[in-house]
Amino acid sequence: MKDEITREERVDNLKGMGCSRKRVEDARFTQGKGNYVDDIKLDGMLFGDFVRSPYAHARIKSINTAAALEVPGVLAVLTAADLEPLGLHWMPTLAGDKQMVLADGKVLFQGQEVAFVVAEDRYAAADGIEAVEVDYEELPVLVNPFEALQSDVTLREDLVGEDGSIPDGAHGPRKHPNHIFTWDAGDKAATAEVIDNAEVVATESMYYHRTHPCPLETCGCVASMDKVNGKLTLWGTFQAPHAIRTVVSLISGIEEHNIRVISPDIGGGFGNKVGAYPGYVCSVVASIVTGKPVKWIEDRMDNLMTTAFARDYHMTGKISATKDGKITGLHCHVTADHGGFDACADPTKFPAGFMNICTGSYDIPTAYLEVDGVYTNKAPGGVSYRCSFRVTEAVYFIERMIEVLAIELNMDAAELRRINFIKKEQFPYTAALGWEYDSGDYHTAWDKALKTVDYDGLRAEQAKRVEDFKAGKTRKLMGIGLSFFTEIVGAGPVKNCDILGLGMFDSCEIRIHPTGSAIARLGTISQGQGHATTFAQILASEIGLPADSITIEEGDTDTAPYGLGTYGSRSTPVAGAATAMAGRKIRAKAQMIAAYLLEVHDNDVEFDVDRFVVKGAPEKFKTMKEIAFAAYNQAIPGIEPGLEAVSYYDPPNMTYPFGAYVCVMDIDVDTGVPEIRRFYALDDCGTRINPMIIEGQVHGGLTEALAVALGQEIAYDDMGNVKTGTLMDFFLPTAWEVPNYETDYTVTPSPHHPIGAKGVGESPHVGGVPCFSNAVQDAFRPFGNRHTNMPHDHWRIWRTANALGLHD
Ligand code: CDP
Repeated sequence: MKDEITREERVDNLKGMGCSRKRVEDARFTQGKGNYVDDIKLDGMLFGDFVRSPYAHARIKSINTAAALEVPGVLAVLTAADLEPLGLHWMPTLAGDKQMVLADGKVLFQGQEVAFVVAEDRYAAADGIEAVEVDYEELPVLVNPFEALQSDVTLREDLVGEDGSIPDGAHGPRKHPNHIFTWDAGDKAATAEVIDNAEVVATESMYYHRTHPCPLETCGCVASMDKVNGKLTLWGTFQAPHAIRTVVSLISGIEEHNIRVISPDIGGGFGNKVGAYPGYVCSVVASIVTGKPVKWIEDRMDNLMTTAFARDYHMTGKISATKDGKITGLHCHVTADHGGFDACADPTKFPAGFMNICTGSYDIPTAYLEVDGVYTNKAPGGVSYRCSFRVTEAVYFIERMIEVLAIELNMDAAELRRINFIKKEQFPYTAALGWEYDSGDYHTAWDKALKTVDYDGLRAEQAKRVEDFKAGKTRKLMGIGLSFFTEIVGAGPVKNCDILGLGMFDSCEIRIHPTGSAIARLGTISQGQGHATTFAQILASEIGLPADSITIEEGDTDTAPYGLGTYGSRSTPVAGAATAMAGRKIRAKAQMIAAYLLEVHDNDVEFDVDRFVVKGAPEKFKTMKEIAFAAYNQAIPGIEPGLEAVSYYDPPNMTYPFGAYVCVMDIDVDTGVPEIRRFYALDDCGTRINPMIIEGQVHGGLTEALAVALGQEIAYDDMGNVKTGTLMDFFLPTAWEVPNYETDYTVTPSPHHPIGAKGVGESPHVGGVPCFSNAVQDAFRPFGNRHTNMPHDHWRIWRTANALGLHD
């Protein structure tokens, strides 16, 4: 048979790996045809909403719901007393703690859920909320974790014995009623010895403030209990629909096959939608009680004040080096503020997430990390915001410690990084704190970045600017922010990563239809990352059918294979690998069918783009389309009909993407306004599936990094009031603040991933935050600045300038 098109054209037709295929999702999103949770409208659907605590710490003396039940349209008001007989007034958190579903005797943070009002619509629910009378007795408030560890005020009375004893927590012994855990990694004694005897030691304390991912769509769900068939359907903004189904089954007692969890379109997750929230439990109970579907959708304030926050890490570091800059040791202590309940979505064995990646991209022979988790009167959560389990904190920590060490050594910070990078030939590299980095080529990436931005030229320009400033010729300083990060994504190997006992594998199931198109279902769920576009590309390259002929479906537990969902940039490393492996199973069967059709031995055909060809006789071939048809229409001896495959993939290791970022910033010392003149981001995420989508991920991640570094914060006053609970106070960058980003890349494939891909979604956030922060700090370095805490908003920058005497 003769080919009508060239091999190159056949490759192009597939729109497979490496192609900047346009996002197939966007046809519906750009036309307003998305289907989000709030778009779901069912017959007779009710609306539930919360009475929330105005106090951060208070005892609840009484709740009177009588007046609320009189409000027209209000059908029910649930309190902890109603949930208690069902055993649903508390629920397990993902961190091994438990959390009140509705306030049980006391409240522990402002905005905590006290009662759930169910009404005919949102307006009636709001009126009902106003009519619920709650009598609070205020208690002393603890918003500072250091004070909480000294205080004789016990926040979690449920976690202290009647005799005042402190039982162990989910992660071992606790040393104070407000203490959650101590977790450590590395060699404490050896690290102390290295640091005590070092030629140079730099010490610094830093606070990575509390912030929030603030997805454009807030959290919500619709619960519908079909009492006739005993089936519960739950639509929701779930980043891990299968895990939610299992959790709902465990806490409600409804058998898992009778629960269907559906994540429809999700308007951004960033980790905010991983955990289980009281709204889900209350909606299910309300649907069971009323026999009607119940919707619960947060408003913006609810979302910012009560659902999973991010960071809140107080970090103290010591880094030691020789006089010529070779790092010898690193010590890190963290006081982690977890709020009123420990609801971090971390793998069970890692209560501080993957903070033990804090040796960063550097060959540091000896290190020790210790983390103390603490309860305070703040909202629970902790791990969310485009972060693979505390990697943002770890990378911020090490990238600030490098800068501080450079100051101590009076050395250029770019050079200090270069002489300490793990070398290409050292991979796979086992870090002092335990992780095995799969692959990397840091020197190449760093050299490319510095050359592209003309680093030496920038430093010369900066020196001139300092001279001019001192001579009174300008009031603007220039900062050069550097960061080099190593990420750890793809949780994870089941042997060391589980959430609530559920191993963190992922899955893909493929069905090829007779006419050569296909559907693939995955255990993950896109929240804007474009999975329907990119996973089809992986398959196109693996099975030789055009990406345009492959539907990707996620998020329905009745149809998708079990998986642990999408967060921590795990989709590509885990589900992407499952997709490739399932594709290879399809290909293996296709090879046998092709050999039969071509009347040769299986080993005498080989795969070529979109077909199997007879080795040495390329004119003899069967296309995948033809093979698909044959799979359903021809009786082939020894081969079952059909062409389907499923893969559950347990990755052997995580993947370690990395990147080199440079930010050039001008700072007006009189207004404190920073102006980002240039931002260069080089990312290495291994094999690139869709360069355009990667670029989009980088732009988004950098913008969220800019937000966090330059102003975004969940701040509390001493009474535990959230000061930044609306978008008037909470900084969400717009096109006005966002600079032009220059993106670049190197490719260092993961050696253990079937297609060599590493995750990318979180990298720009992880690397971006220290880069923006370092730019601000670097501008002030010539005037004696060593470290100032984020967020670097205009006022804080002005204050730094003022403290350094630059306004004198
Ligand atoms: O888990 P999540 O989808 O948030 O993160 P990811 O695995 O980093 O993927 C984000 C998006 O980037 C997906 O659409 C991926 O397919 C795409 N990607 C890519 O094109 N090439 C890579 N090497 C990594 C991710």
